Amino acid sequence: MDASTDRRPKGPGRPATAPPVARTTLQLRQAATSARRHSRPDPDKNPLREGLRLEQVPDPCAFVLFGATGDLAHRKVIPAIYQLWRTNLLPAEFSLVAVARRPYTNESFAAEIRASLEKYSRVQPIDEAAWAELAKRIVYHQLDFADDAAFDSLGTRLDELDKECGTAGNRLFYLATQPSQVTEIVRQMGRVGLDHEMRGGGWRRLVVEKPFGRDFESARLLNHEVNKVFRESQVYRIDHYLGKETVRNLLVFRFGNGIFEPVWNRSYVDHVQITVGESIGVEGRGAFYEETGASRDILQNHLLQLMTLVAMEPPSSFQADALRDQKLAVLRAICTPTPDEIKHEIVRGQYGPGWVEGEPVPGYRQEPEVDPESETETFVAGRFTIDDWRWSGVPFYLRAGKRLPKRATEIAIQFKEVPLRLFRDSAGDPAPNVLAMRIQPDEGIMLRFAAKVPGLGLDVRAVNMDFAYDTSFVVDSPDAYETLILDALLGDASLFTRADEVEAAWSVVTPIINAWAEQPAPHFPDYAAGSWGPETADQLIERDGRRWRRI
Ligand code: BG6
Repeated sequence: MDASTDRRPKGPGRPATAPPVARTTLQLRQAATSARRHSRPDPDKNPLREGLRLEQVPDPCAFVLFGATGDLAHRKVIPAIYQLWRTNLLPAEFSLVAVARRPYTNESFAAEIRASLEKYSRVQPIDEAAWAELAKRIVYHQLDFADDAAFDSLGTRLDELDKECGTAGNRLFYLATQPSQVTEIVRQMGRVGLDHEMRGGGWRRLVVEKPFGRDFESARLLNHEVNKVFRESQVYRIDHYLGKETVRNLLVFRFGNGIFEPVWNRSYVDHVQITVGESIGVEGRGAFYEETGASRDILQNHLLQLMTLVAMEPPSSFQADALRDQKLAVLRAICTPTPDEIKHEIVRGQYGPGWVEGEPVPGYRQEPEVDPESETETFVAGRFTIDDWRWSGVPFYLRAGKRLPKRATEIAIQFKEVPLRLFRDSAGDPAPNVLAMRIQPDEGIMLRFAAKVPGLGLDVRAVNMDFAYDTSFVVDSPDAYETLILDALLGDASLFTRADEVEAAWSVVTPIINAWAEQPAPHFPDYAAGSWGPETADQLIERDGRRWRRI
């Protein structure tokens, strides 16, 4: 990536010179934490690290986490912060300001976090020394989103922390709250002036979780409300798929290799399949999912984002806007499905009871907080086309579902058949080449091609050439949230979705959900948990003479 992701050691977290002699409380604290960091051997001097790039440390800052007592904060955001802290990727002058409604003290909230880390940190056991330092930086601020006085005092508290902890007026506001609370929180921030950046330093950034709106109009309105307070360049909309290592590798694969780009187009590609399969159900989120369904939960964001990365033109650089302009161009070129196409080329489904991974599981309508007559889709599949020079006429088949036989996210590029029937008389035809990118699990890339079976005859069979992350690289991949949080702290927005991108994605999905709202729902449930979705999904692709890949 460009200079903004050039993570060489620099920045205030790693001063080039020795820390000054400590005099004030602040200086004493900073010197202590610097000492912790600097007591480790200088990585620059370690010959084993030769050739490895080192990470850049963000500016001193306060990480203000709204919805700090919620599930997302505990499962994803806080473990990611701990992991960044543990690996010295956060500045010593850091505070984690947890904001939520329930009453806690700094200490009792830190104890809750500690218990969550025991459960959700991807690296165990917890590093006691690192945790002790992080725990000192946890501040709990009780606040009801409608309470003006509590917001005023949050502003004052953050100013005090700048003095006590050296956070220098830099603030990242992370909204891990209910989507419906975003407008009110942002309005309050604007009222108190929490968005105001300061001359000569003191940046303010806003991170917003998905779902961003529930259709085109609501997303536009939300963007309008957010942009009334924050400039677009201060806003970081999360789609955590963009932070996945294998998704980031798509750009390297496409643009860092000379041999794929020439065949990456309508002349060579027959079609593309993108699957986001999950074996889990709604996992206690029945009420949320009733309002969402697979099209809002996965199609509008994760699936369309994967599609843009496959289909985009090479950006002029990896600068955030250069990259996002190209993704936007794809989203705008996706043909909006007509009512007739929605009827025949986009299907929805809902799981009934069945067996997944050897266990009996209930149907969607039997899940807690789900209407026993629910018409919410837990599966969506569709055939989409892109009206541009590169992809015209190449179908992109997308599908996502809950309670499928396994967790598997994959992008498969199927190339055209060879033109000559040279192997008419052989046992077995050369099957078309397929390039399959396994996003998760078993991360890797497979290329299928034809080979001659050893023997006196001319038998042909498809064989696979496989690259697997776990055997090729000895390092663990970071969790997507670690990547995204670090990027937001560094001010690199390339892996975050811009307002116009979110709206363009909604303009593809909104006609579908509107048409479904007007049509009678299919006879739900229409697929058994543990199967690959309803028959209509197979018919959709088989009508074109193709089949879903067996994953
Ligand atoms: C979230 C959806 O965005 O992505 C969930 O709201 C889904 O319903 C999850 O389970 C899947 O993420 P991952 O990283 O497990 O593939």
